[in-house]
Parts: sequence; C-alpha cells; structure tokens
Amino acid sequence: MTTPTQAPPFPPAKVYALSTAFWQTKLIMTASQLGVFEKLSTGPASLEQLAEALTLQPTALHDFLDALVALELLERDGGRYSNSAEADFYLVPGKRYYMGHYLTFVDNFMRPTWDGLDEVLRTGRPQAPQPPERPQPEAAPGKEGTEFFEHTYASADLQRMFMEAQDSLSSEIAWEISRRIDWSRWTRLVDLGGARGNTAGILLQAHPHLTATVFDMPPIEPLFHEHMERLGVHDRAAYQGGDWFQDPLPEGDALLCGHALHNWTAEQRKTVIGKAYDAVRPGGVFMVHDLMIDEDRNRLNPLMLSLAMTLSVGGSGYKASECIGWMREAGFTDVEAVLLQDYDGHTVVLGHKRA
Ligand SMILES: C[S@@+](CC[C@H](N)C(=O)[O-])C[C@H]1O[C@@H](n2cnc3c(N)ncnc32)[C@H](O)[C@@H]1O
Repeated sequence: MTTPTQAPPFPPAKVYALSTAFWQTKLIMTASQLGVFEKLSTGPASLEQLAEALTLQPTALHDFLDALVALELLERDGGRYSNSAEADFYLVPGKRYYMGHYLTFVDNFMRPTWDGLDEVLRTGRPQAPQPPERPQPEAAPGKEGTEFFEHTYASADLQRMFMEAQDSLSSEIAWEISRRIDWSRWTRLVDLGGARGNTAGILLQAHPHLTATVFDMPPIEPLFHEHMERLGVHDRAAYQGGDWFQDPLPEGDALLCGHALHNWTAEQRKTVIGKAYDAVRPGGVFMVHDLMIDEDRNRLNPLMLSLAMTLSVGGSGYKASECIGWMREAGFTDVEAVLLQDYDGHTVVLGHKRA
C-alpha cells in the first residue's frame, strides 16, 4: 500500500453515519421502552429526577439524555429536560397517535429479518424462520404472506401489537386520503384488508354521510369493534371476516385497499384487484394506496419496504404505473395515481367502474 500524500478528497461522514445509524434506532427504542417520554409528558425533569423516577443509574444517563436532545426528541432548558413537541405527540403512551407500538413492531418483527439480507440475496428466498413442514417458497410462491398473518393472529398479544402498529402507519395517510379526495360522490365504503378499521374510522369521522364495512381476516373482529367504539363510529361501521383469495368481497361504491398489496406477489395482487372490480358498484371507485416505488427507482423508503417484504413474507413493492396496468386490466377506467406523501412515496391509485 502506498502512503497517501494528500488528505482524502471528502470526509468519511457518510460511511460513518450509515455504519452507526443503529445507534439512533437504539436511542429512540430504549427511551420509549424505559418510559422517558411518558415521564416527561407530566412536566420537565432534571437528570436526577429522571434517574429516580425510572430507577436508572446516572453513569450513562447524561450522554443518553443529551443525545436525545441532539436528535430533537427532547429539549433541555438549564438542567431540565422536556419532550419535544413531536415526541410528546407520537411517543407518549395513551395518546391518540402514539407510535410506541410501531417501535415495538419494528424491533420484534422487522429488525430480525434484516439479518437474513445476505441470505435472501444469495438464495432469492424469504428468510423468515421456516419450520420443516412448511412448503418451500419455490413450490408455493406467496404462501409466506398467509403464514405470516396466520402466525401473527394466533396470539392475542401479537394480534394487538400488529394492529396498533398498523394504526401508527395508517392514521396520517387516512387523513390525507380524507382531505385530498372528494368523498361526497360515494356513500358506501369498503376497506379491504382494513385491519381493525383505523382508516375506515378516520374516514367515517371526517365524512358523516359514509357507512363502512371493513373486510379482513376473522380473528381481528373483536379488536375492530373495540376500536370503532373508541373512535365513536361503531353505529356506521360493520366487519366482514374472510379471505380475499377465497371469499366474495362486500359490495360498495368506494372500495379501498391500503398498505397491503406489497405483502403479496404480482399475481396475487392482480387476483385481489380483479375481485375488487366485481365488488365495486357501477359508477364506483377502487383505490389502492401504498408506498409505491417511483418510476426511476430513486426514492429510498419504498425500496427499503420492498426489500423488507422480500425478506420476510415473499412480497415486494411495486410502481404506480404497474398498479395502473393491473387496474386497467381488471376493467377500471380513468385510472390515475396521486402522490400523497413525498417523503415516503405513499401514493393512491384510483380507478373507476363505468356506471
Ligand atoms: C399491512 S396490513 C395493512 C392494514 C391497513 N390496510 C392499513 O393501512 O393499516 C395488511 C392487512 O391485510 C390483511 N390481510 C392479509 N391477507 C388477507 C386476506 N387473505 N384476506 C383479507 N385480509 C387480509 C391483514 O390481516 C392486515 O390487516
């Protein structure tokens, strides 16, 4: 190796930051799990007060708290810490838009599968733990999605954690869909794969003329009723349990399928879209929303979600143009894509059924 005679032309900042990005993940996860944001939601506290309230040793606490300030999750005034406005809104248990369950979901469901990235690149197969009796993915492409949901819904705790995490993801986008789309044209909403009804509930809250049916897998029904009560829309919301690959779908004039088709293969997505076409009443609409890959494949978040799906359930991301193609093939007309959020590529594709 020759001895360099010049300083490097650029600093190693990017390599350094990417290699240690998990430090930041660990900070937010740990602060959330230890109850830092919950404690500070009752008022500012000094390091000593936090140490006592959360039974923590002071050794690492000073750096931990100041690093959270640097991440803009906490604020520091004199010697006292408080939550930043964002942390107070999203990270305090019990608040409507609490995202702590999403952090737990990422930590428990998503993080471990990334250890299999090299394997999935080598083998092309999802790396979720496979019991020996499970059919090999090549023999049953897309089967992992079904197995993932069956496994998750077999436990009451996992069910609730998954539903609460989905709410964190769907709330912002539901408000966006509510605001950006003219709902006065339709009265009967059906949310396919609508989980415990968070999106439908937000749309019902915002548009009192709507009634809704949420179609999802049977085990979710009790959580749906509980959530609709909480949102105060239970009198206009119904649940239909079923499997969209096997069962007929409920009819409506505005069908929705959000943040769900990335769990499946392209062929499976086409099946769901085709069945949605049959269930949309003439003159009605079908909307698919998801983090969609941009045409030039430059936006990071949808590419990362796509990889996460390939790693875990054998699904993948897709482009709005592909979704438009599947919708046209199913029979929908005037199909168009509307970008809802630039930062993560969340897009809604709308297709109409002729009256
Ligand atoms: C990633 S979650 C998205 C939930 C919700 N649409 C949202 O935006 O938060 C996918 C949903 O699809 C549902 N799902 C998966 N397979 C299904 C099937 N075969 N039939 C009906 N629903 C299904 C799951 O139970 C889950 O609630």
